[in-house]
Amino acid sequence: MRILIVGGGGREHAIALAVAADDPSHLVYVAPGNPGTATIATNVPVPADDIDRLADAVDMYAIDLTIIGPEVPLALGLADRLLAEGRVVFGPIAAAAAIESSKAFAKEVMAAAGVPTAASRTFDNLHDALAFIDRHDEPLVVKASGLAAGKGAVVCATRLEAREAAREMIGDRRFGSAGDVIVVEDFLVGEELSVMAVTNGREVRLLPAAQDHKRLLEGDHGPNTGGMGAYAPVKIATPGVLARIVNEVLLPTLQELAVRDAPFRGVLYAGLMMHPDGTPNVVEFNCRLGDPETEAILPLVKSGLVALFDAAARGAPLPPLELHDGAAVTTVLASEGYPESARKDVSITIPGDLPDGVTVYHAGTTHRDDGVLVTNGGRVLAVTAVAPTFAEAQALSRDAAARIQFQGRQFRRDIGWRESNR
Ligand code: AMP
Ligand code: GLY
Repeated sequence: MRILIVGGGGREHAIALAVAADDPSHLVYVAPGNPGTATIATNVPVPADDIDRLADAVDMYAIDLTIIGPEVPLALGLADRLLAEGRVVFGPIAAAAAIESSKAFAKEVMAAAGVPTAASRTFDNLHDALAFIDRHDEPLVVKASGLAAGKGAVVCATRLEAREAAREMIGDRRFGSAGDVIVVEDFLVGEELSVMAVTNGREVRLLPAAQDHKRLLEGDHGPNTGGMGAYAPVKIATPGVLARIVNEVLLPTLQELAVRDAPFRGVLYAGLMMHPDGTPNVVEFNCRLGDPETEAILPLVKSGLVALFDAAARGAPLPPLELHDGAAVTTVLASEGYPESARKDVSITIPGDLPDGVTVYHAGTTHRDDGVLVTNGGRVLAVTAVAPTFAEAQALSRDAAARIQFQGRQFRRDIGWRESNR
């Protein structure tokens, strides 16, 4: 098959490697890709948000299956465009991608479908939002409804903080148009869990459940980031818990989207807060594979990935996915200054003798003119280790990350700390 992967981060490197391993006869293209994907696929120099040129690339390379990694091209309607041209595309149409690109829409869908989530109200004017906040219990959460690169949710200990957050979003337009509509919701208690389901719009096939680590510093302190690490599978995601998530969250949401003429094909990602009483409350939906969860999950797939993505894309019955036993832990190496800024053009040294079971995914790297690999973004590399036990995978990932050098690098040595404590 001729396969195009859209995107250029660690997630897309992991998809490219998994697709290449699926069957060596696949011809794999990545747009725009990165120095990591260049070693296993053909990079196509088209940005992930240039819908016209991506559609041209699909024609030019006679692509059989397009896998869309990031949310932005999905929200911009890349899937709609390719479908209109008769192409097979793994990723939802824009109307369904709105489950991520509009938190207000996601809340409406969940309310209609009876999906458990925090009680909330949606506002498009500051006056009403502030009046609601003034009557709300503490703590509370204020969110920009639109896409804000993972930074649009503010957990507020006090009403005063919530007023400030609302003012920054609607008043100061800190997130641009993404904050013109905001959602104010109850604070949820529990443990977070990421569950990703491959779906043809009717049935779901779950990928191993994962836990992300959004805070910059060990012990889950410091500012929120795009994700400093992840691991899978997660012990608390027992078969019984996963069955509840399928029946109470994923299937009702897919049915409601279908009723609204927004059938969803691709990966529906439920970011959940698991209440101690077992209720899987939805914190957010994403319309795509998570990053860095994908870098932990895809190395656990033994076979069947491309057949599954292709069937979901076509709306066909979903074939099984075969998984490896064992665990995967991913440690992200980030640039100096991240998440506020990112120091670029710093040379990177990756040892040539990292142990078996370790894979280094490129997220924010580039080659300088002289060929030296340098940093090119906030999250630079994602170091995944797969091993028979969680503890072994954790040690391998941490030790390999520690051996990769670039000036000012930041990483957490405690990825999966909750799992170690169980
Ligand atoms: P989001 O961008 O909606 O995924 O939110 C980012 C992070 O903020 C989540 O991963 C949670 O840690 C936290 N968060 C968001 N909404 C809530 C909520 N209602 N209650 C508690 N924590 C939340
Ligand atoms: N890791 C969370 C996300 O991909 O949005």
